[in-house]
Amino acid sequence: MKVEDLHKHFLTREGRLEVLKGVSFEVREGEFVSVVGPSGCGKTTLLRLVGGLDSPSSGRITIDGKSPDPSLHRLGFVFQEDSLFPWRTVWENVRFGREVRGMEGEREVGELLERMGLRGFERCYPHQLSGGMKQRVAIARALAVDPDLLLMDEPFANLDAQTRWILHQDLTRIWEEVRKTILFVTHNVEEAVYLSDRVLVFTVRPARVKRVLRVGLPRPRDKLSAGLVKLRKEVVELLREEVPYL
Ligand SMILES: Nc1ncnc2c1ncn2[C@@H]1O[C@H](COP(=O)(O)OP(=O)(O)OP(=O)(O)O)[C@@H](O)[C@H]1O
Ligand SMILES: [Mg+2]
Repeated sequence: MKVEDLHKHFLTREGRLEVLKGVSFEVREGEFVSVVGPSGCGKTTLLRLVGGLDSPSSGRITIDGKSPDPSLHRLGFVFQEDSLFPWRTVWENVRFGREVRGMEGEREVGELLERMGLRGFERCYPHQLSGGMKQRVAIARALAVDPDLLLMDEPFANLDAQTRWILHQDLTRIWEEVRKTILFVTHNVEEAVYLSDRVLVFTVRPARVKRVLRVGLPRPRDKLSAGLVKLRKEVVELLREEVPYL
């Protein structure tokens, strides 16, 4: 996936709001890339553009060299809030994207649920699950369509620290198994460096890519390892240049 000189503005009552100002980067196939940046800088906007939920003011987005096209590309989305269908069971939620695309595969759904630690909960409804389990279902549902690109917007932001930590480990394990290309937006610097191959640090709005950091540490990683702590510090220092009170 490649983004070239992306610009986005919104026209509001107050006038023209510049949100993205010349954002360029690439996410290679099978790579895990995170975006961190000050609140309101345009991270969700970027993800929405890449996901085709909104269109850029100018610039180019390509997946495998082609403009995003639902008939060519499969995208998976995982958002912060509950995005599960409350009237569908866990199994039916995970199967949803496959149904829409006419994909067979009860077996694949079962395997994914197993991988995500949801075995035994197939027939539960979302309201019967904890927050962490709901996000597991959301991840399984996104992976179920065998996406070319997985877009994740603060998927763990509403979870307590312990649940978040377990999901980090699980997501790392699953990503290593399935090797999907992931673009992951987060506020959490620790999470970004722990999970990613590379971290893109954005400026304040209008956002540009301020710095790209390569993590380059083997997995499984230790959050408290000297290498990760050093990187965290580096990212926080870059963010402080943007938002001094951080
Ligand atoms: N549809 C819209 N119309 C007008 N302004 C918008 C629209 N969508 C987003 N914005 C504005 O664009 C800016 C960036 O919003 P965005 O949600 O992308 O930020 P963000 O980096 O994801 O923030 P956060 O870290 O708080 O999630 C904000 O000022 C927001 O008000
Ligand atoms: Mg956001």
